[in-house]
Amino acid sequence: MSTDIPSTHPDANWWRQAAVYQIYPRSFSDANGDGMGDLPGVTARMGYLSELGIDAIWLSPFYPSALADGGYDVDDYRNVDPRLGSLDDFDAMVAAAHAAGIRVIVDVVPNHSSNRHEWFKAALTSAPGSPERARYQFFDGLGADGELPPSDWPSHFGGGAWTRVVEQAGPNAGSLGQWYLHLFATEQPDFNWDHPEVREDFHTTLRFWADRGVDGFRVDVAHGLAKDMSLPLRSKPELEILVDDGTDPLFDRDDVHEIFAGWRTVLNEYDPPKAAVAEAWVPFTERRLKYARPTELGQAFNFDLLQAPFDAAEFRSIAEKCLDEAAASGASSTWVFSNHDVIRHPSRYALPDGSTLADLEAWLLADGATPVPDLPRGLRRARAATLFMLGLPGSAYLYQGEELGLFEVADLPAASLQDPTWFRTLHKVKGRDGCRVPLPWSSGAANFGFGGTPWLPQPAWFGEHAADVQDGVAGSTLEMYRSALDWRRKLQSAESLEWLSEPGASVVRYRRPNGWEVLTNFAAVPAALPADVDPAKVVLSSGASADGTVGPETTLWLAP
Ligand code: GLC
Repeated sequence: MSTDIPSTHPDANWWRQAAVYQIYPRSFSDANGDGMGDLPGVTARMGYLSELGIDAIWLSPFYPSALADGGYDVDDYRNVDPRLGSLDDFDAMVAAAHAAGIRVIVDVVPNHSSNRHEWFKAALTSAPGSPERARYQFFDGLGADGELPPSDWPSHFGGGAWTRVVEQAGPNAGSLGQWYLHLFATEQPDFNWDHPEVREDFHTTLRFWADRGVDGFRVDVAHGLAKDMSLPLRSKPELEILVDDGTDPLFDRDDVHEIFAGWRTVLNEYDPPKAAVAEAWVPFTERRLKYARPTELGQAFNFDLLQAPFDAAEFRSIAEKCLDEAAASGASSTWVFSNHDVIRHPSRYALPDGSTLADLEAWLLADGATPVPDLPRGLRRARAATLFMLGLPGSAYLYQGEELGLFEVADLPAASLQDPTWFRTLHKVKGRDGCRVPLPWSSGAANFGFGGTPWLPQPAWFGEHAADVQDGVAGSTLEMYRSALDWRRKLQSAESLEWLSEPGASVVRYRRPNGWEVLTNFAAVPAALPADVDPAKVVLSSGASADGTVGPETTLWLAP
């Protein structure tokens, strides 16, 4: 398997099988004690990250922002939020990461800016039809006086996707006027990607961070940039893609690929070329792999494993599918179980099998009380799933705190919630704060060593998961991640695998080309160790196994 990127640089393919650790900066480590994590906090923890054994960090947005959507509402794409540090702090962090052999990926948010971006402010003070408005999606409303939104599109976070403005210029100054599109919160106006200045400005942003030494980019809502805004706007009362064939007015349109081909040209100005990964929540079809072509971003997230139950057949067929997809695109596959948008996987796996997304939301709304989660089981499965995944060819994206075995904080007090979902659904959907609670570093320290009083309260049980409690403790989740990432480097192999188990088996077993084997027992009861497995070759286990068996919901790694 090869890539067509125009580089013979020895590091050109570093991303293909990287372990990437996602940092949600506000919640990672707070160096200045203001209760919000910051970039100096990341720099201060570089030793921890290096000891963990990851290859790269991906930082969620740290740009100036009113935090209407946790920083995914960007005021200025080429600066650092003063609460999180300065550009000098950014440079110091990159230098520290590189000195530790850790690469740096930053988040780009191209679908929308914040409503405090200078372009949007100019759009609001300019008249309908002005060049300032043309960089966003301003439309006249429907109805006799334009009092109805231009279409029936909903926002991802609840409510409608259009907000009406009071005109500040032009003949109707002082009156209600046009509407602007925001597929997310009101504070996140969508850009018009047909506008050449929008395209050019994002090239400038990519170069700005690339020149500062970042190694790659994670591209937010990559499938949403190209939209069919021709009139009359088409009806789409549900945002989920029903038929993903390029005819949707908002998502995964063919034109989007031209934009990313342009990005690739910019990313290839560097040697080694900068890496990029698309966040594109599109279903599994050959359409998804287009984002990951070497002529585009290079990689695309797939959220298939993240959305799957802990089940042998599902895990195996998803792995097969995604590896085929990656091979067909020239990319390497990505794997992810948790991120800042979803319920942490040890909690998901602790809920009854068959729970749907609606069930998970209902559980959160019940403060995690009903149904009662089986936490030991959830963590046991999460550990087994993680070792299953870390053995697969491709890149593993890990979310801060999963190495501590953190569960979702499902009972955050309502008064502390900040996710726009909570407000825009009028408190019907709780949202994503429960996976964003600041990390516990030291069990005995104030705020568990995070820094100042955290912007989301930490529950008392976080102390049991603190990094210092697990450090050096055999069998702790932190030590399992450290050993796994260490073995993963030592055992890493060519990008393929061979299945050694039958498709329907509850013990799934695969072998990498160099002989590294991974074996997961998905059943809740122990399984016999296959006769050809030499127990002396077991170098890692996600849980305890009695002699001659693989424990329930347990993964083993066998060295060649
Ligand atoms: C992506 C981000 C999410 C954000 C949304 C809007 O899905 O991961 O956190 O709310 O885009 O930018």
